[in-house]
Amino acid sequence: MATQHIGKKTACVVGGTGFVASLLVKLLLEKGYAVNTTVRDPDNQKKISHLIALQDLGDLRIFGADLTDEGSFDAPIAGCDLVFHLATPVHFASEDPENDMIKPAIQGVHNVLKACVRAKTVKRVVLTSSAAAVTINKLNGTGLVMDESHWTDVEFLSTEKPPTWGYPASKTLAEKAAWKFAEENDIDLITVIPTLMAGASLTPDVPSSVDWCNKGILTFLSGNEFLINGMKGMQMLSGSISITHVEDVCRAQIFLAEKESASGRFICCGVNTSVPELAKFLNKRYPHYKVPTDFGDFPSKAKLTLSSEKLIKEGFSFKYGIEAIYDQTVEYFKAKGVLQN
Ligand SMILES: NC(=O)c1ccc[n+]([C@@H]2O[C@H](COP(=O)([O-])OP(=O)(O)OC[C@H]3O[C@@H](n4cnc5c(N)ncnc54)[C@H](OP(=O)(O)O)[C@@H]3O)[C@@H](O)[C@H]2O)c1
Repeated sequence: MATQHIGKKTACVVGGTGFVASLLVKLLLEKGYAVNTTVRDPDNQKKISHLIALQDLGDLRIFGADLTDEGSFDAPIAGCDLVFHLATPVHFASEDPENDMIKPAIQGVHNVLKACVRAKTVKRVVLTSSAAAVTINKLNGTGLVMDESHWTDVEFLSTEKPPTWGYPASKTLAEKAAWKFAEENDIDLITVIPTLMAGASLTPDVPSSVDWCNKGILTFLSGNEFLINGMKGMQMLSGSISITHVEDVCRAQIFLAEKESASGRFICCGVNTSVPELAKFLNKRYPHYKVPTDFGDFPSKAKLTLSSEKLIKEGFSFKYGIEAIYDQTVEYFKAKGVLQN
């Protein structure tokens, strides 16, 4: 069959063009895996240029596939040992989240998992979920600790419809659909639940997700009030500003794919903080950007923290703390011309 790589463990990465997935592809190639990856438009040379560059590192094949096209994952998944599913529609400003995000995310999970069943070679599937599938609820107070037993309250999201509600709803419903399908079809599934990620991206342009995800830093370093309000909104909806280095998330995905004893959901969170705490940290570390630190009566403490205890007990260690996360992100934005020196 055209997709088989001889003599190597093979992993399929669904959604290879993305911020997280392209780094995952790189780390898998560096570990000696043969990799099949899927992109929506394999003829768009600019959009896949970073993947073509990665072909110098090892055996990487690029396939066209769309979450909404049922048969399109058969060829890239055939013969694979591991499948990492990262693709998801991201349209934060959508006026029709049901059709733009929720339905295609769930359909994508089903289409990828059905291809895994048909392949008969897949030993484990690692799905990238999100902290947005865990932390959003109506609970009040501070000091809440969120672990893998918690799920975002989708009824609250679809009734109240807070800004960007469609994304957390899609992530929650897609992860729940994956667990149901995996149970019914005897698939060894692991879900990784990362927070907001920061760090450099291999993609040719700063991707929209990174732009959003790294807004934490741009927001404060540029002093843009509109963005600062966006971050405050995020703390109020999600309960915290929690951040992880993208490389740690990719390392955790590979660690969990390879660790036989691992099972279930795994939160992957490097740092728990809040808007005022993060601003204070950035003001001190990068004084010349004059980061504002006065947020009036805005809550200085986050409502909750995300616990990575299960992941750490499994044997994983994080490589990056908050200083390294932000030093690298600042350098990345400077190199891309998004941030002045
Ligand atoms: N970035 C974060 O901070 C963060 C935090 C928590 C969780 N996550 C999760 O991590 C995963 C990766 O996120 P990311 O930031 O790397 O996203 P990203 O850079 O925006 O990439 C999204 C990917 O999804 C693909 N995609 C979208 N709609 C598709 C469709 N209909 N069919 C096939 N592919 C489709 C895109 O493919 P094309 O480019 O080929 O169109 C792209 O590769 C997602 O599941 C996201 O929810 C991200």
